[in-house]
Amino acid sequence: MNFELKSLSLAQASELAVDALLVLVPDAAPNDRASGVCALSQLILEVSRCGDFETDLGKSLACYRPAGFKATRMVLVRAGDGSASSVRKAVAAGMAGLKLPGVKKLGLVLSLLPKGDASVRAAMMACADATYVYTSTKPSAKARTLQQVVVGVPQAAQAREGFAVGKAMVTGVEFAKEWANRPANHATPSMLADAARKLGRQPGFKTEVLGPKEVAALGMGSFLAVAQGSAEPLRFIILRYNGAPRSQAPVVLVGKGITFDTGGISIKPAAEMDEMKFDMGGAASVLGTFAALAELQPAINVVGLIPSCENMPDGLAVKPGDVVTSMSGQTIEILNTDAEGRLILCDALTYAARFKPRSVVDIATLTGACVIALGAVRSGLFSVRDELAQSLQQAGEQALDPCWRLPLDDEYAEGLKSNFADMGNVAGRAGGAITAAKFLQKFTAELPWAHLDIAGTAWKSGAAKGATGRPVPLLLQYLLNEAAAQRTGKAKAAVPARRKPV
Ligand code: BES
Ligand code: MN
Ligand code: ZN
Repeated sequence: MNFELKSLSLAQASELAVDALLVLVPDAAPNDRASGVCALSQLILEVSRCGDFETDLGKSLACYRPAGFKATRMVLVRAGDGSASSVRKAVAAGMAGLKLPGVKKLGLVLSLLPKGDASVRAAMMACADATYVYTSTKPSAKARTLQQVVVGVPQAAQAREGFAVGKAMVTGVEFAKEWANRPANHATPSMLADAARKLGRQPGFKTEVLGPKEVAALGMGSFLAVAQGSAEPLRFIILRYNGAPRSQAPVVLVGKGITFDTGGISIKPAAEMDEMKFDMGGAASVLGTFAALAELQPAINVVGLIPSCENMPDGLAVKPGDVVTSMSGQTIEILNTDAEGRLILCDALTYAARFKPRSVVDIATLTGACVIALGAVRSGLFSVRDELAQSLQQAGEQALDPCWRLPLDDEYAEGLKSNFADMGNVAGRAGGAITAAKFLQKFTAELPWAHLDIAGTAWKSGAAKGATGRPVPLLLQYLLNEAAAQRTGKAKAAVPARRKPV
């Protein structure tokens, strides 16, 4: 899908030769500014007066071959206060009112909105979201018909940045959705590695892929243990994007890449087990973020680490009670083989330290407990670094991809104690999202680390089953904010290490 940015007055909207116009009308639509001088403002005025165009956010009015317009169809939609989140809801509602199969070219008229990058982005994202179709393994699916979207704003020059970021976010989100949606037999660790290699061909990018031998040589005994029950060989994917001088410390993103999670010997029940193909949602979000970086080429260095394998039951699979040695040297008693995400992430986090990172953020569909705690609205955020936590939280708000910080008191780690190893891989049921984070924290001693649990936000269940592409918007926003902070010299070289042992 192609986006095009255009300066567009209300009067010019009637001249737009498109299959459909989607006109956003905020509460504060300046009826006076246009004061009925053009066809569109005249129409808005009339339908508002007669009451046919209700005023609640998302209410719409559709017209076919409206007089005085070149467009075949037009939908007016109420955009409430005109904020980014209202705009997103309005576009989603408006798109539902369009007969999409006939619409190849759409005019998205944002000319009445108060100017702001966030609303332009939100409109573009909602437009993409409403028209996304997964087709890779479904030949009968009707592919997206919408090909071109003309984004009309009062002054294009003032919306260029929001537009560019919006476009890149759409690319990143769709990349992540695509890979997360693919069934496990169409998204094996090797296939993810190939996708990463392809991304690595772009300027400023580099990809390295390690297999079982190299991972064994690194001493990643915990990661290896999870992979040992599967016929698919594991992959450890290292992506690099260098947009800033080499001297600048990178942000490291670590994505959980379990391409299928059966639970292993601690096997999961059959119901909804298919959804465990989404257990590489963290990895998909890292790949998607890199796809977006390729488009925007911001001045920042980023490393992506993806430990990827299947979690299968097998004669060779790791057994409950087995003790393994992680790359950090700490031993782990694997009491539950279904708590595998933390077992692959811990070794990747140990590996992350070699980049002397400015920050490390892991992204993982880690716990069902996080779904219970926060549902599908906010991802779980964990960090003992206030500054880092605040940056991520703020990025989430800005990008309409919110997260919520949960605590990391040391008392939560009590249950991880083991008689046979330095730690167990599970604590009790209580506070499960937090105890999982406490486990990861044991591998991030001096690192400026944060953890995002996206188990509730990475995909939707039920009739609308499918990947959401989250938290690509949050991650990209965070990276762009970091790049901007570095540019203006506000950023510290690195977040100071916390002395307190973990
Ligand atoms: N991939 C799952 C987490 C998950 C569960 C995500 C449900 C989305 C929906 C993870 O590997 C897992 O199985 N976690 C266990 C941990 C438990 C054994 C301590 C869980 O949450 O049940
Ligand atoms: Mn599991
Ligand atoms: Zn899992």
